[in-house]
Amino acid sequence: MSDPTSLSKDLIEKSLSKNAKKYRINVYDLISSTNTVLRELAEQGAEENTVLIASEQTNGRGRMGRNFFSPSETGVYISVLLHPDLPAEKTVFITTAAAVAICKAIEKTTDKTPKIKWVNDIFIDGKKACGILTEAVFENGKIKYAVLGIGINVFEPEGGFPEEIKDIAGAVSENAQRGLREKITAEFLNELALTDPEKTSEEYKKRSFVIGKKITVINAGISYDAVAEDIDENCCLMIKKEDGEKIALSSGEISIRL
Ligand code: BTN
Repeated sequence: MSDPTSLSKDLIEKSLSKNAKKYRINVYDLISSTNTVLRELAEQGAEENTVLIASEQTNGRGRMGRNFFSPSETGVYISVLLHPDLPAEKTVFITTAAAVAICKAIEKTTDKTPKIKWVNDIFIDGKKACGILTEAVFENGKIKYAVLGIGINVFEPEGGFPEEIKDIAGAVSENAQRGLREKITAEFLNELALTDPEKTSEEYKKRSFVIGKKITVINAGISYDAVAEDIDENCCLMIKKEDGEKIALSSGEISIRL
């Protein structure tokens, strides 16, 4: 019998569809950060579609230099090395395609209805259960390679989430269920393999819960209030500022005002 706390590489690989067999799966019990290690491997010439999957990270990284809480046994932390044929300004499509892929994976494997908070957060029952961090390296105005990282809180850790994130962090499932981490991982890769990143805006918008909401935008260190009006075909967030100016945001972070 395999160690119940480890992720089963076998189970993940068995659950991959034909299209997803291209992914080269590497599974770790413990790693510093799947994104950091995969970036190092990419610089050393790792092949496209190399995937690192960990059961625990000691230095999980989030957007804006934040930490990503990555405890053992209850979450799964995945990074995928991609060489998309995309211009630099379309890097956001990697994140939005991943957001749609993880939503579909969760919809297929559980009875949950995940929602997307632009641009990279997945919420379940009002709490953040997954985060996405895309790190790209550019050459001649195009993406040379991108490391797509996603962290999924599949179950709530024993003792709950740490004080500083307990009001916002949530998990996919209330009940620990053996094999669910592997199933979600495989379904995520199955969906990702089928995705054309430039054609995900409709599926993305359908799952978004920010449209019509009052928000605060934080972009390049500046924060201001606005209303989220729409998501366009480039997955930009169309906002109306308090002075009436309308803009399409392609990056940045938002929080929802109550
Ligand atoms: C965020 O919510 O700000 C993004 C979180 C991204 C976390 C994932 S876990 C797998 C990969 N490795 C990391 O260190 N970060 C990403």
